[in-house]
Amino acid sequence: MIEFPKDFFWGAATSAYQVEGNNVNSDWWEWENKTGLGNKSGDACRHYQLYNEDFDLARKLNHNCHRLSLEWARIEPDKGSFSEEEIKHYSGVLDSLRQHSLEPLVTLHHFTNPIWFSRLDGWLDKNNIKYFLGYTRKAAEEFCGKVKFWVTINEPMVYAYYSYVLGQWPPQVKSFPLSRQVVKNMVIAHIKAYRIIHDVYKKRGLNPPLVSIAQNVQSFVPCKDTLRNKFGAYLRNQLYNLDFINRISRQKALDFIGLNYYTWGPVETKSWHPKSLILDVCTENHHHLKKNTLGWDIYPQGLKDVLLSFKRYNLPLFILENGICTEDDNLRWEYISQHLEKMHEAMQEGAKVIGYIHWSLLDNYEWDKGFAPRFGLVYVDYKSYSRIIKESAYKLAEVCRSLRLK
Ligand code: BGC
Repeated sequence: MIEFPKDFFWGAATSAYQVEGNNVNSDWWEWENKTGLGNKSGDACRHYQLYNEDFDLARKLNHNCHRLSLEWARIEPDKGSFSEEEIKHYSGVLDSLRQHSLEPLVTLHHFTNPIWFSRLDGWLDKNNIKYFLGYTRKAAEEFCGKVKFWVTINEPMVYAYYSYVLGQWPPQVKSFPLSRQVVKNMVIAHIKAYRIIHDVYKKRGLNPPLVSIAQNVQSFVPCKDTLRNKFGAYLRNQLYNLDFINRISRQKALDFIGLNYYTWGPVETKSWHPKSLILDVCTENHHHLKKNTLGWDIYPQGLKDVLLSFKRYNLPLFILENGICTEDDNLRWEYISQHLEKMHEAMQEGAKVIGYIHWSLLDNYEWDKGFAPRFGLVYVDYKSYSRIIKESAYKLAEVCRSLRLK
C-alpha cells in the first residue's frame, strides 16, 4: 500500500491552443493554414465555450488543482493593445476554477506566439523580450487576485528544439546556434517575468506568488554501456535537463520547480563529435519497453531518477505533466500507476514533490500530429464535442480521494 501526503496537489493540465479552438491570431494558426499539413486545430475541443463543463469533470475526478495556459495572442492580438473581452473571458475561467475548488496554475507561454510577435522574429531577437514582459505584467495585474502559481514558459528546450533545431514547428528554422539564442532569450525573459510578477503582488500587498517554468525532463540512459555513451548521457542531462534551471536558479528566479516527464532518452552515439554526443538519436527498438501511440518508450524508473537528481536544488518539485497517448485505457492506467509508484519512491528518498498534474484532462490537438494521439483522461468526440470519462481517470480519481495506491 502506497500513501500520499494530505496536502498534495492532484490535477490535470490543458494548454489554451490545444483545447480552446480558433486561436486565429496565433502564429500556429497562420502556420497550420499556410503549410497545408492537414493537421489543423479548428475548433479543437471547444473548451473556450465548454470550460465550465470541463471543470465539472475535473472536480468529479477529485482533482484539487488545474493547470491551464493563457493564449497571449487572444490577450494581445495587436502589439501593445490588450483585449478587454479576452481578459474578461480568462477572468471568468479563473473564477470558474475557484468555484470548482481547483487551484489554478497559470502558464503564460505554451509554444504559441501572437502573429505580430513572430513577424518581428519572435524569440530570436532579444529586443522582443520586452513584449513578452508587457504581456506578463498585464496578466499579473489582471489576475493576481485569483492566482498563486505561475508558470512563465512551458518547456523552453522543447520549443527551441522543435522550432529552431529540427525545424518541424513554426517558424521552421534549422540551426543549433540560433536555437541557443532562443534559449538565452527565454532565460532572460523568465528571470525578468519572475521579478515583474513578484513586484505586482508586492505592490498590491498580496502574499508572494510561486513562480516557475515547466521543464521537460528526460532520463538519459546509455544504451550500450560505453564511456562515449555515458559521456553523451551526461552532456545531454546537463544541457537539456539542467542548464535552463541552473541559469534561472542562480538568479534566484524560481520558487518551485515544475517538471514534465514522459519518457527516457536512450543514448547511442556514433562518434566523439560534440554534435553526435548531444544529438544522435538511438535507432534501436527497445522491445522490452511498451510504447505510446507516438512510439515513445514507457520508462517509469526515469521519473524517479530525475526527481532524485533535482533534489540538489532544494526547492519544492511539482510534476506539471506526465501522461500517455494510447487507445488502450488499461495501458494508460498501467502508465499512471507505475509513474505514481516511482514518484512515491522518490519522495520516500527525499524528493520534495508537492503535486502531480496529469497530461491531459482532455484528448486534444497534439500540435503537428493533429488529433490522432489521445492523451486525455477524458475522451473527446470531435464531431459532437461530447466528453466521456475514461476508466483510468476514475482509477486516478480514487487515488486523489483516498490518497492511496494499491
Ligand atoms: C507539451 C504538450 C504536449 C505534450 C505531449 C508536452 O511536451 O507541453 O503541449 O501535448 O507534451 O506531447
